[in-house]
Amino acid sequence: MTIDDLGRRVAADVVGDGGLAGLRRLSGVIAELEERRTGVVEELRRGRVATWEEIGQACGMTRQGATRRWAGRLRARSFGVAAESYQHGRPGYPQALIGSAVPREARRVLDLGAGTGKLTRLLVEAGLEVVAVEPDGAMRAQLAAAVPKAAVREGWAERIPLPDGSVDAVVVAQAWHWFDPAVAVPEIARVLAPGGTLALVWNVRDESEPWAAELGALMHRSARQEIDTRPVLPAPFGEAERLEIRWEHATTRAGIVDLVASRSYVIALPEAERARLLADVEELLATHPDLAGRDGIAMPYLTRCTRVRRG
Ligand SMILES: C[S@@+](CC[C@H](N)C(=O)[O-])C[C@H]1O[C@@H](n2cnc3c(N)ncnc32)[C@H](O)[C@@H]1O
Repeated sequence: MTIDDLGRRVAADVVGDGGLAGLRRLSGVIAELEERRTGVVEELRRGRVATWEEIGQACGMTRQGATRRWAGRLRARSFGVAAESYQHGRPGYPQALIGSAVPREARRVLDLGAGTGKLTRLLVEAGLEVVAVEPDGAMRAQLAAAVPKAAVREGWAERIPLPDGSVDAVVVAQAWHWFDPAVAVPEIARVLAPGGTLALVWNVRDESEPWAAELGALMHRSARQEIDTRPVLPAPFGEAERLEIRWEHATTRAGIVDLVASRSYVIALPEAERARLLADVEELLATHPDLAGRDGIAMPYLTRCTRVRRG
């Protein structure tokens, strides 16, 4: 039997008598197969077994089509390599954020792309019933150890392992830019109860201090990630409410080195370039007149939150 014949037979079995039930089954199988395809592409790229050109050909696409489809996704999967640096170096969030990100009446909350649980912990401390969904195993291990009261699940924004209408609020901290919004928006709307909310949160470094501006310039020397931290969301979500909180993250020199080391674009740098960047950051921290001789450092941040309600 040829691959085409096999595909036709499987599709006919899955669709069955058609209708919405058939469509739902077909969509589930397509999502599962896409996930498998991404896994195979990841293995081929990690081991440098195939070029993007060859992968494109195998998938019936051009090289550009294949990199557009998967390069970002593979970078999003890179966090686990630096899970410990992430947990140690990345800032948390101000407690005041919870009152804006989650409406007062909400009880069941999904933290989507929860990472090592930096926001999950605050949600649990606020007395909420929290499910944390995170695709990366190393990040999930840190999360389960740091926030044992949260229910931790493997999953993706594009495929959330929860039933329809099962949460009152979804929060996405520092992760929305990794999602495929065309798939994630309807998937988030599916798991939200009617009238439930979605909050998108980012921490932005406030570079008004000269040393923080120099650190920013160093970090963006080799690569930069442009993120829209005031996104507009499509239906079924309504108009956005936006909030900003200024605060300071109490850290140390080692914490700032880990902050840099856990950025996805730094993880992806060639080893020599990455080592040079981290050495330059250490030198800045040791010699800048505003920091020299101090280990405790207050890192200024602006936390931005966009909240929308499911119509
Ligand atoms: C910058 S971290 C943010 C983690 C955490 N929310 C925080 O605030 O510290 C981004 C996280 O999104 C996860 N991620 C990437 N793509 C994802 C996707 N499609 N669905 C869900 N999570 C994803 C990554 O594994 C990573 O843990």
